[in-house]
Amino acid sequence: MLKRIGVLTGGGDCPGLNPAVKWVVKTASDEELAAERGFQFEVIGIRDGWRGLVEYDHRRHPVLPEHTAFGDGDHARLLVESEVRTWDRQGGTRLGSSRTNPFNPDKPMWEAVMASMEAMELDGLIAIGGEDTLSAAAKLGARGANVVCIPKTIDRDLQGTDYSLGFETAVNVIVEEVDRLRTTAHSHSRIFVVETMGRYTGHLALSGGLAAGASHILIPEVPYDVDVVVEGLKKRREDGHRFSIVIIAEGAKAAGKERVERQASSKDGFGHPTLGGVGGELARELEEKTGLEVRAVNLSHLQRGGVPCAYDRRMARGFGIAAVDLASRGEYNRLVAHQGGIITAVPIPQNLHEVRKVDVARRYDTRTYKAKNTLVDL
Ligand code: F6P
Repeated sequence: MLKRIGVLTGGGDCPGLNPAVKWVVKTASDEELAAERGFQFEVIGIRDGWRGLVEYDHRRHPVLPEHTAFGDGDHARLLVESEVRTWDRQGGTRLGSSRTNPFNPDKPMWEAVMASMEAMELDGLIAIGGEDTLSAAAKLGARGANVVCIPKTIDRDLQGTDYSLGFETAVNVIVEEVDRLRTTAHSHSRIFVVETMGRYTGHLALSGGLAAGASHILIPEVPYDVDVVVEGLKKRREDGHRFSIVIIAEGAKAAGKERVERQASSKDGFGHPTLGGVGGELARELEEKTGLEVRAVNLSHLQRGGVPCAYDRRMARGFGIAAVDLASRGEYNRLVAHQGGIITAVPIPQNLHEVRKVDVARRYDTRTYKAKNTLVDL
């Protein structure tokens, strides 16, 4: 017997997506596992997240074995083991991604998604994504679709799981870039303000900042007082430090001020504004108030670029295997999760939209804007 599952990647890309798809395909095609379960799986790669299912042309059929790239007008194609073999070392997503929202209130498209899953004769769908993609998966599940979710987001802000793919690679990028900035900062006795991603949470800024040895880390969970940073930087200079690195999360805001958005009017399909620019504003203010030379660097999409680090490759492997395992047992509407150091699965959390914030009391010193020196989970 042959069963068919689809796999898609949605939302912002990140390193870890391709390895997860590889391990979905590899586990699904494993001959020994197929013998144990009593059936074989065929995996259909969906192009560009939910958009692929919204726009899928029902007259076409995805099962074309010689098809190893999406052609014009293709929204789905068969994925075979020989093709995905090397995907574990590739960044981005070979399937493509989008922020298409099947439940967009202005233009609901979920019925088209369900119809496409039926037309493709999918027994189940593995959705790899963050809060938005997985919320849509949960809603489809509530309408009868068979979905399994794999968590990914460099923001690491998902409910139900301690880890989401892409985070560690992004932390590594922050550390590598700060290491580069440190040498030039030292040469010129400058302060660098480094803006990280992370949307409304400070997980990325905090982990990146502490690993990179930043003097101050500003996170969205705690509106900052610029004078605390000014005093800290002046003190460092008095103490003989030639330079300082300040990390600021894109979603951080000064006390009493609004969050900085890149284009005030632009929103994605899920209604999120594009954040960015707070680092530049902070740098200008710091330069004015300290009299020191300050430069701003926005790491932006560099944090989502490049190849996955070893940790993301390992986690993606575990998540991919677990997702197929769930699908093979017919355990749908579950989120593959990392909890307490093990890979497990939980019902898709109902509160995905309530992003998981930094535990400020345990991890963050609100007086000095540094990570607390306590023994806490990573
Ligand atoms: O959610 C991941 C993320 O990288 C956020 O950290 C960031 O705010 C957002 O996506 C950027 O989205 P886009 O790539 O659409 O500009």
